[in-house]
Amino acid sequence: MMNHFNGAGSLHYMDGVHTRRRLCQHRMAHGAAAWRPVVMRSGPNTHIYNVIYEDVFIFRIFVSIKRSPVRRLGGGPFVRAELMSEVILKGIKKIYDNKVTAVHDVNLKIADKEFIVLVGPSGCGKSTTLRMVAGLEDISEGELYIDGNLMNDIVPKDRDIAMVFQNYALYPHMTVRDNMAFALKLKRTPKSEIDAKVKEVANILGITQYLDRKPKALSGGQRQRVAIGRAMVRNPKVFLMDEPLSNLDAKLRNEMRAEIIKLRQRIDTTFMYVTHDQTEAMTLADRIVIMKDGYVHQIGTPQELFNSPVNLFVAGFIGMPVMNFFKGSKLLLEDGVYYAEIRGEKFKLSDFQQKALKSKDQKPAAITAGVRPQHITVGEGKLTAKIEVSEMMGTEYNIHASSGDDEVVMVIPTVGLDADVSMGTTVKFDVAPELIQLFDEETGNNLIWYDEESAKANAPECAKY
Ligand SMILES: Nc1ncnc2c1ncn2[C@@H]1O[C@H](COP(=O)(O)OP(=O)(O)OP(=O)(O)O)[C@@H](O)[C@H]1O
Ligand SMILES: [Mg+2]
Repeated sequence: MMNHFNGAGSLHYMDGVHTRRRLCQHRMAHGAAAWRPVVMRSGPNTHIYNVIYEDVFIFRIFVSIKRSPVRRLGGGPFVRAELMSEVILKGIKKIYDNKVTAVHDVNLKIADKEFIVLVGPSGCGKSTTLRMVAGLEDISEGELYIDGNLMNDIVPKDRDIAMVFQNYALYPHMTVRDNMAFALKLKRTPKSEIDAKVKEVANILGITQYLDRKPKALSGGQRQRVAIGRAMVRNPKVFLMDEPLSNLDAKLRNEMRAEIIKLRQRIDTTFMYVTHDQTEAMTLADRIVIMKDGYVHQIGTPQELFNSPVNLFVAGFIGMPVMNFFKGSKLLLEDGVYYAEIRGEKFKLSDFQQKALKSKDQKPAAITAGVRPQHITVGEGKLTAKIEVSEMMGTEYNIHASSGDDEVVMVIPTVGLDADVSMGTTVKFDVAPELIQLFDEETGNNLIWYDEESAKANAPECAKY
């Protein structure tokens, strides 16, 4: 017979009825105070106690230690200075029964307390990846580690994770307090501990005044906070969130986004967050994992993805408004010097670009040149465009223009603007060569930032494993 003490204070018995009955009988006869558990010996994963009553050996308990001692002894739900929550996805793949490969070979190492955002268009495999981490989907191939432990065959409740879904589904007949306490009650956490945790989390989320209300008497944003609170009270090692803000209106979404940033600083745990909204990804993430059709295309900080997109897909997905793409451009090589030719005009590339292209022994090529709307200047320049729509936004103009067959979007600061940018005007515009992205016309890969080694493994980190 083996007893498992699973997590902070909750007991899961393999032969629970028998053990509990013996405990109750002894307690009724002798009172609880006389019980004395004595540590026999401890292994890395198990403590063995002899339970002694009035110096007589009664029975032996094997306690499997699934959490760190820091957590078990911690003074409050968020006292966890030494708790590590590193998550590693190694060659993770998902093939559904209908033979759909939803996720191909994801390799990702998430550092302790890192905020990772999975982003990509609908159907790219974000939720599937998250659900595999949560244990709600089987992993078809590959290995998942949380805190150094292989998790593939561990049931969700023992993975020490909490998940917040898009349709947060609170229990309508329960108060906010009971909704938040539910998971802890299931784990038979003592009432005083539950009350303290609910109170602390409600305070962090600013929902203390709603604790006795039912969900229907709350706004969307408040319900969302309750859903997050319900996950937080469990004090998970890893917090998984699948589009938690997508059914809120734009204003509330902005507010909640700020809340999550603050929350993250306060609870200091590892986050995996799914969204298809690039703004959410850019503002929340330490690193972004950008996916398409089940493949990871790039992993990097928001700045890396913005400045150094590996291919046309990443370049077009990250950044608002979307990057301008000049098809039919050329990479020229004349007397050992590289130029980008856009709409027949030559731009001598920067020293950095020269070096990078030379190191790859890049040949002249047909390219799509990419230029971010924020990187265009008007007034002077080699290129011309006719302004079709000019939106004055206060600090900047958002301009839609046509330049030959290309549509060009420009974001032009109003401060210091000399040129006339009213509708119907033809303007000269320019771009600094170092800000031109060079995409191979055939493959769509960035001639400078695409790296075959990383792409083979679908993630830059792969080489480290
Ligand atoms: N239970 C399932 N059985 C078969 N195929 C599935 C199943 N669940 C998802 N898929 C398929 O797997 C692919 C990835 O789905 P997933 O839900 O992970 O996408 P997603 O990136 O979360 O998209 P969204 O942004 O729309 O939520 C899709 O092509 C989807 O149709
Ligand atoms: Mg999804």
